[in-house]
Amino acid sequence: MSGTIPAVVLGGTGYVAGELLRLLAVHPRLRVAAVMSDSQPGESLVSAFPHLAGAYDGMRFESQEQVRSRLTREPLCALFSAAPHGVSAPLIDSLLGAAAAAGTRPRVVDISADFRFRSAEDYAQVYHHPQGAPERLGQFTCAVPEHLAELATEHVAHPGCFATAVLLASVPLLTLGLVSPQLFVAGVTGSTGAGRKPTPGTHHPVRHSDLYAYSALAHRHAPEIAACARAASGVAAEFAFVPHSGPFARGIHVTVQASLARPLGTAEVLGALREFYARAPFVRVLEGAPRIKDVIASNYAHLGVASDGRTLAVMCAIDNLTKGAAGGAVQWMNRMLGLPETEGLTAPAPGWT
Ligand SMILES: NC(=O)c1ccc[n+]([C@@H]2O[C@H](COP(=O)([O-])OP(=O)(O)OC[C@H]3O[C@@H](n4cnc5c(N)ncnc54)[C@H](OP(=O)(O)O)[C@@H]3O)[C@@H](O)[C@H]2O)c1
Repeated sequence: MSGTIPAVVLGGTGYVAGELLRLLAVHPRLRVAAVMSDSQPGESLVSAFPHLAGAYDGMRFESQEQVRSRLTREPLCALFSAAPHGVSAPLIDSLLGAAAAAGTRPRVVDISADFRFRSAEDYAQVYHHPQGAPERLGQFTCAVPEHLAELATEHVAHPGCFATAVLLASVPLLTLGLVSPQLFVAGVTGSTGAGRKPTPGTHHPVRHSDLYAYSALAHRHAPEIAACARAASGVAAEFAFVPHSGPFARGIHVTVQASLARPLGTAEVLGALREFYARAPFVRVLEGAPRIKDVIASNYAHLGVASDGRTLAVMCAIDNLTKGAAGGAVQWMNRMLGLPETEGLTAPAPGWT
């Protein structure tokens, strides 16, 4: 396939949409054709994202009707949804319906939670409202790209930011039978994980210079993590998940602990993880402890290991907006369109932010 492929972004003024636009600005094969904004159609992209000035000068957010019309004209299109859960599924459903009626075939990566579960009942139990397009659930696969060799559905549901980090750390342990299937996870996320709109619990003065757990053992992403881990590894594991609010804007650090199934030292587990991810260009297994500054604003995931022969700890650091959202979505879209998986994503982290 030669030339550029048009890309369309939904949820246009949000943080994940902004990160998608930053990545797509330098993508050699995907070209941003339209960015939909429900709240600011007609406004300039640069007014929402001043850091993208120069890349999108003159471009304006489009309304849902404009985007719908564009999707019926483009024979092939990369459609990214960075809309909130509950909004994303009915929006995608309506846009795909219009495209199908016109004979066009957008490929979708949904970064919201709407297509992560296999059943509408499981979704409703966690999100407390009906899933918005149950008849389309079978068209989506939810997985980290590193854990699925062959995609069998037309579209993809991104597993999310915490889930990406937890799954990268834990799926090899379960697949290789290194640990008993009861995993204890502590994760720390930066404030961009909560989106653009401040709330009493996520506002900068509250989070700044502080660290605290929230939704301990009751976070809604825990069932998604367990379902994804089971699909990827074939093991029904329990995840006891305690998320924390970190005093930084970007980044996620998780520590997964479990009892070893047999005595293994740090070097042996490092070797097993390195082999498991030998063909995963974005995963690096380190000798030392991974740090978020080494992956911020990049699509790389850093893993570290510690074993005392009985208990294993695997640490993972990613950028929540990049590998945990927009970068992981572009990685999937590259594969769905038959492009090299790494296209547009290999820039290293800046190191100092
Ligand atoms: N932030 C992260 O680290 C992260 C990581 C993984 C996954 N996600 C998921 O990615 C999606 C976007 O996250 P985000 O952090 O970018 O969120 P955000 O900053 O709150 O942006 C979401 C955008 O969706 C649009 N939107 C459309 N209808 C809406 C409605 N009824 N209520 C609120 N917003 C509406 C808004 O843009 P317009 O008004 O311009 O349309 C809004 O700016 C979410 O589903 C989130 O769960 C986020």
